[in-house]
Amino acid sequence: MTQPLKISVVGGGPGGLYFAILMKKADPRHAITVYERNRADDTFGFGVVFSDETLDNIQNADPETFDAIAKNFVYWGEIDIRVRGRVIRSDGHGFCGLERRTLLMLLQERARALGVELKFQTEIPDVASLPDSDLIVAADGINSAIRAKFADHFKPSFDWRKNKFAWCGTTKSFPAFTFDFRENEHGIWILGAYQYKPGMSTLVPECDEETWLRAGLDKADEAQTVAYLERTFADLLDGHPVLSNRSVWRNFPMIKNERWYRDNIVLIGDALHTAHYSIGSGTKLAMEDSIALAGSFAAKQSVADALAHYETTRREEVEKTQHAADVSLVWFEKPRRFWKLEPMQLAFSLLSRSKQITYDNLRRRDPEFGAEVDRWWAGKVRSELNFDVPTNNPLPPMFTPFRIGNMTVQNRVVVSPMNMYSAEPGNIPGDFHLVHLGKMAQGGAGLVFAEMTSVSEDARITPGCPGIYTPEQVKAWTRICNFVHANSEAKFCLQIGHAGRKGSTRLGWEGMDQPLIEGNWPIVSASPLRYRKDSALPTEISRAGMTAVRESFVRAARHAHQAGFDMIELHMAHGYLLSSFISPLTNQRSDEYGGSLDNRMRYPLEVFDAVREAWPADKPMSVRISASDWVPGRGLDIDDAIEITRMLKARGLDIIDVSAGQTSIEARPVYGRMFQTPFSDAIRSEVQMPTITVGNITTADQVNTIVAAGRADLVALARPHLVNPNFTLAASAYYGCDIQKWPDPYLAGKDQAFRLTERDNAEMAQLREQARAPITQRRAAFLASRG
Ligand SMILES: Cc1cc2nc3c(=O)[nH]c(=O)nc-3n(C[C@H](O)[C@H](O)[C@H](O)COP(=O)(O)OP(=O)(O)OC[C@H]3O[C@@H](n4cnc5c(N)ncnc54)[C@H](O)[C@@H]3O)c2cc1C
Ligand SMILES: Cc1cc2nc3c(=O)[nH]c(=O)nc-3n(C[C@H](O)[C@H](O)[C@H](O)COP(=O)(O)O)c2cc1C
Repeated sequence: MTQPLKISVVGGGPGGLYFAILMKKADPRHAITVYERNRADDTFGFGVVFSDETLDNIQNADPETFDAIAKNFVYWGEIDIRVRGRVIRSDGHGFCGLERRTLLMLLQERARALGVELKFQTEIPDVASLPDSDLIVAADGINSAIRAKFADHFKPSFDWRKNKFAWCGTTKSFPAFTFDFRENEHGIWILGAYQYKPGMSTLVPECDEETWLRAGLDKADEAQTVAYLERTFADLLDGHPVLSNRSVWRNFPMIKNERWYRDNIVLIGDALHTAHYSIGSGTKLAMEDSIALAGSFAAKQSVADALAHYETTRREEVEKTQHAADVSLVWFEKPRRFWKLEPMQLAFSLLSRSKQITYDNLRRRDPEFGAEVDRWWAGKVRSELNFDVPTNNPLPPMFTPFRIGNMTVQNRVVVSPMNMYSAEPGNIPGDFHLVHLGKMAQGGAGLVFAEMTSVSEDARITPGCPGIYTPEQVKAWTRICNFVHANSEAKFCLQIGHAGRKGSTRLGWEGMDQPLIEGNWPIVSASPLRYRKDSALPTEISRAGMTAVRESFVRAARHAHQAGFDMIELHMAHGYLLSSFISPLTNQRSDEYGGSLDNRMRYPLEVFDAVREAWPADKPMSVRISASDWVPGRGLDIDDAIEITRMLKARGLDIIDVSAGQTSIEARPVYGRMFQTPFSDAIRSEVQMPTITVGNITTADQVNTIVAAGRADLVALARPHLVNPNFTLAASAYYGCDIQKWPDPYLAGKDQAFRLTERDNAEMAQLREQARAPITQRRAAFLASRG
């Protein structure tokens, strides 16, 4: 921006002050006034936290502000997790704590020195009362009046979370960022604590609403709150008092705005967005907004262009942080779930909750903690599953065995079922399937699924789908089973299904879910509802039809056993026939198979019982479900999925394969890394049922993270196996994990892969060390300055 601007900033919090500093520094000709309704030294809250990354951003944007912060901050790298008498420490994180009041003072001083005008005790009731300005920055905090006045334009949304929390302080210095979990007569408590100057720490107690009500805190004043916290955390506080400063109990609002600016008015900081304090402070976001906004003015020549640039370039980063914060806060909202975990798993689950910190990441940050996780996991596999895994040189969790019913799988990786639409005439799996499934098995996964295989001719999805209803098909499957068993340690599972209203459609690459151009066959579903507008209309399946389909499933199970499969899975997901009974969106029947969840499950359970009866008792059975229709309010949700799993467990299910969606074209999935894993996590915890998770899981690191955190027992990957059938072999080289069986003819490749990855890992470690050098120096300087 080459023109000087007249800028009014409403709000003298960290966001407003820092923006004023950066703009004035960029061009001293800007006339900038900050209006703050409080006095200069009036401040609530105790300390703020910045991560190393935020410190780097602040250092790059304005070294003077950084230097002033560095003189005052407390720096630490450890997170302590205290639970049931244990203190579990994970190092290598890197945070600084700083008094909020000091931060505001040093920002004010820097702003004044640059020539920013600061007007305290000046409330701006309305932007109309501001002098003429080229730019108005609404940095007026969480209850922003400017945002409210133009709410029709900014379109803010407020998601008030249920947990209760309060900002408090104490004179106790915590040596690490501390999480303390404990249970008292009222419920489960989580306390977050961090030092922000010697002899002072912030305390954030949090609990669910029921605990808070049982503790009578809805009627407590600040003094009573303090007394309650001092009692509850007495041993942790070592006699130090809890301090309050407007420490009222709050609900956290998740705030988002559809639009970020209006003409020359722009929102920053808490006025624009919030992100739960468990993944970093609002102060960090507010200051990073200021850096981004000032950067946009440096990049553009007009206010309009700069504001558009700010929104475009910053939005994704904010949304990513908010998404991580969302995932994180949900973890804290389920105390009964994490409380079931043993301390080490609770610690691992806590650290990896927002998906930003993973198994590999923790090992890099703190190799000793990584080794402790592996040792603990090995002990757990030995004691709970009774497998003789090594404890002195323990395996990464993904390479530990698991038992489904009586069947042992050698590792936790699953090749997810994938329709290949490549059957030979007569719907016979041919050479394509032999090669495709054979290479998946040789690739090292513990469990390989064959695709959804039709239980009868009219149960097919497409003309290219394999079946298991003719002797020729059984013979062809026998050949593939024999190959898998002779050439790998993989266990082999057949998924059997009936396409229902999604049948009679084209091969995947010729038009997914679209009806055939010619040669269609009649289709049935729970109710006569089309899948897509252009789909064929199914007929409502009759009772006689249901019996016939049930018997086809039974025949398919017998054939699968005859062919030599180790396991079968009933496909009750993705909108196919059994799924169409379960979802309220697709089942509108008025007989005993429609209505309540019990009724909607009646037929799928009837099929399950019949198949369980026909399938050998010593071979395991799985069911795949869609745990959510992704249609909030009307479709299946996780609570239904938990109930469904309970019903199946009671009837002898061995493992549940937790997928989601594909039941309705109205679905609006929230995609992301490992996006369906929370469903598996919830089911596993609530029903105590082994689970398979699936969905956008692409790395061995993610597999380890999911398994160690107890979010699933097995992890299925579909598309990544199409790219690399040797996913598990490659991972064994990456982790130097010799226990993984490689096919004998591949051993020369194994030697090379192990050698190369050892070299790559050493190079990566060196690069990481270099990247962390400034952080290491910062820490060393801090420790030196404090003697
Ligand atoms: C009680 C409390 C305690 C907190 N404690 C901590 C903590 O310990 N650690 C931490 O990291 N985060 C804490 N937070 C969150 C943190 O304060 C915010 O995320 C962060 O300050 C956001 O910065 P900001 O500049 O956007 O807004 P704020 O810091 O909220 O600044 C907004 C400023 O605008 C002023 N203002 C509002 N309306 C007007 C008006 N009409 N005219 C003039 N001035 C106006 C307000 O007085 C305020 O000073 C706390 C929040 C609260 C509510
Ligand atoms: C080509 C392809 C075919 C699929 N066919 C099936 C299937 O036959 N049965 C099934 O339950 N899921 C099927 N799926 C879904 C996958 O098993 C898996 O749940 C989904 O792709 C998400 O996993 P991913 O992100 O690892 O790919 C298929 C997916 C793909 C990509």
